[in-house]
Amino acid sequence: MFRVIEKSKLTGDITRIVVAAPDIALKAGAGQFVMVVTGRDSERIPLTIADTDTSRGTLTLIFQEIGFSTKELGALSEGDTISHILGPLGNPTHIEKYGTVICVGGGVGIAEIFPVTKAMKRAENRVIGIIGARSKELVILEEKLKQTCDELFITTDDGSYGKKGYVTDVLSGLLKVSEQSTHTIYPNLVYAVGPVPMMRKIAQLTKEYNIKTIVSLNPIMVDATGMCGSCRVTVAGVTRFGCVDGPEFDAHLVDFDELQKRLASFKEKEECLNKKCPAK
Ligand SMILES: Cc1cc2nc3c(=O)[nH]c(=O)nc-3n(C[C@H](O)[C@H](O)[C@H](O)COP(=O)(O)OP(=O)(O)OC[C@H]3O[C@@H](n4cnc5c(N)ncnc54)[C@H](O)[C@@H]3O)c2cc1C
Ligand code: FES
Repeated sequence: MFRVIEKSKLTGDITRIVVAAPDIALKAGAGQFVMVVTGRDSERIPLTIADTDTSRGTLTLIFQEIGFSTKELGALSEGDTISHILGPLGNPTHIEKYGTVICVGGGVGIAEIFPVTKAMKRAENRVIGIIGARSKELVILEEKLKQTCDELFITTDDGSYGKKGYVTDVLSGLLKVSEQSTHTIYPNLVYAVGPVPMMRKIAQLTKEYNIKTIVSLNPIMVDATGMCGSCRVTVAGVTRFGCVDGPEFDAHLVDFDELQKRLASFKEKEECLNKKCPAK
């Protein structure tokens, strides 16, 4: 059993919980995730470890209450317990002194880039953050990211905060300026987490400039042990499993069309569950 120590709403449907899990907190690296089973009979949900505090023995999880299981987790209160948390899972982000690293987060992906910006900064990189949300009230972790990024750019689709447009517009602008100016430091690595169309666009952009780009993928996961195959993704024409080979892959080699199709494959059943329909 894992106790919820803190709980807060970051925006309308994005919740942050801090959970006592000292063994996982001790071993967790940036980019890793946990499998959370809220109640004894609940579904498993993969969630990125958004932060850890080894002195308190805690993990921070930030999640969008998008469907049945994330709403069930979001319904817990401080003091309640989570049945199972398995992790840390997946391969940690490769951290080194690259030079300049641009980290791009879209939507709840903003929470997923936070530990990477923190680790990249600690490794003495110049870290540029670009975060985007649909509107002002959905922008999360701005103050925390200002501490881990040398520069932080914010976009909103409707222009209610930061620059109007998409994170890819800012990235595209930075890449163009870097190419044309001798004063600007060219990025050595781009790291992105967010909706599939965003990651696909980033991959297309950085490929033109030949900049190494890593994306953290969120395929549907069931067992997270490499046995069930539900999280398979095609990378460089080879089948890989998001849970054990990822979740990070070379963005220029990912088959985003297949990923998008596979993410939609359980939509009907999930919608049914959300409406508490009887199973077909
Ligand atoms: C490695 C990994 C790390 C993740 N980290 C986070 C995180 O830190 N915060 C967070 O909010 N979410 C994260 N996710 C996504 C999260 O696991 C799903 O949103 C969750 O499982 C949905 O469960 P549900 O029952 O609430 O929704 P469902 O009813 O199962 O689904 C609701 C909607 O979400 C879509 N969906 C379901 N599973 C996924 C998925 N794996 N990725 C993207 N869309 C999905 C469905 O297609 C559907 O449209 C992560 C996923 C992976 C694989
Ligand atoms: S979730 Fe089953 S193989 Fe990855």
